[in-house]
Amino acid sequence: MYDNDLSDVVAADKAHVWHHLTQHKPFETSDPRVIVEGKGIHVWDAKGTRYLDAVSGGVWTVNVGYGRTEIADAVRDQLVKLNYFAGSAGSIPGAMFSKKLIEKMPGLSRVYYCNSGSEANEKAFKMVRQIAHKRYGGKKTKILFRERDYHGTTIGALSACGQPERHMQYGPLAPGFVEVPHCLEYRKQWDVEDYGQRAADAIEEVILREGPETVGAICLEPVTAGGGVITPPKGYWERVQEICKKYDILLHIDEVVCGVGRTGAWFGYQQYGVKPDMVTMAKGVASGYAAIACLVTTEDVFDQFKDDASDPLNYFRDISTFGGCTAGPAAALANMEIIENEGLLENTTQMGAYCLSKLEELMEKHKVIGDVRGKGLFLGAELVADRGTKEPVAEKLAQQVVAECGAQGVMIGVTNRSLPGFNNTLCLSPALIATRDNIDEITGAIDVALTRVFG
Ligand SMILES: Cc1ncc(COP(=O)(O)O)c(C=O)c1O
Repeated sequence: MYDNDLSDVVAADKAHVWHHLTQHKPFETSDPRVIVEGKGIHVWDAKGTRYLDAVSGGVWTVNVGYGRTEIADAVRDQLVKLNYFAGSAGSIPGAMFSKKLIEKMPGLSRVYYCNSGSEANEKAFKMVRQIAHKRYGGKKTKILFRERDYHGTTIGALSACGQPERHMQYGPLAPGFVEVPHCLEYRKQWDVEDYGQRAADAIEEVILREGPETVGAICLEPVTAGGGVITPPKGYWERVQEICKKYDILLHIDEVVCGVGRTGAWFGYQQYGVKPDMVTMAKGVASGYAAIACLVTTEDVFDQFKDDASDPLNYFRDISTFGGCTAGPAAALANMEIIENEGLLENTTQMGAYCLSKLEELMEKHKVIGDVRGKGLFLGAELVADRGTKEPVAEKLAQQVVAECGAQGVMIGVTNRSLPGFNNTLCLSPALIATRDNIDEITGAIDVALTRVFG
């Protein structure tokens, strides 16, 4: 599709761009990948090679696929009308997207705009801390997070990070963040029948150890993403909710990956009947057509920041400069309309189930697949050297599978720089427009790759 000579672009990139999450030494002898164009579920690199993108822009983001002129048009029209004004004032797309979003989130009512998932989570942490100071004499400031979960790259968010390889060497981290155990049943930590209940009880144990009067909130991914695509065991969320209620702890759900369709519902928490106090979202909100993130809260949380107008400190004293960019909500509105008009939630549920069944077939054929899991078009296959001991495969081999898929024109992902020794889960998150043929191509490439790497 792309036939221009882009060697000068590649040279400029190689000379000056510092790529994210990348060790650059190999680029002394090879070229970095430069992606130049996208259409539907496909992208093209600077060499003109076409890939089926089974990771929605690398990090589960481009939910409605590439080349959506209706989103580009909505953004362009908005930019020429009004590109920006600080979020202390309202805007037309900001108001209209908030209304549409809240229609999808019964029980919640307020939208705070910012521009990345990390930032949205930081806002939530600040709200928890401020509530602690206003309501609980500065005591309920601790924030719980879960082993294997990730909430962002800033120092505050890294302090709430259950993936050691993300925060190692970046300390000292912020105080007041406390880890609770993960809930991945495949890697059982308790030998019990009712695993969901037990994994949630482990949260209560941490609360009791820390002192419930010191714990303000718990921040959890509905389905853990980069920590290994972890779907919660049965009964887990019901018990988590009970615990939050019992100890007056705010439930903050991080929907940065799951939000806006990825699991086949508007939000991942809705798959499990959860009633959160705060929800953060970013990636899929505008499918990467513009930077936007939202922190959505209940009216109850909101009310705590306006109860005494005579106190000059009694409101949320926070701003996000680019939270006032109107391109974000304009793109988000058009993105949501596409999901509705094209029935993409239904497609995600159907294609997700189909893809899971294809992965289960692969598991019968390839002993190296120890477990497959996921929800909607958000799937993982954990690779093990031995099914009995569940010893993870060497990270290099998991990466080789990704490379072998790439050689067949299919981009898949693998958990990366998360848990020492456990960067062994292949990740799939194709756009919500994926067809059966796309799924067949993706799983077919994985089949061939596994045979090439493991025989
Ligand atoms: C669950 C989760 N939360 C938060 C973030 C951080 O989002 P951002 O990179 O937009 O800051 C990510 C990014 O991968 C994520 O996966």
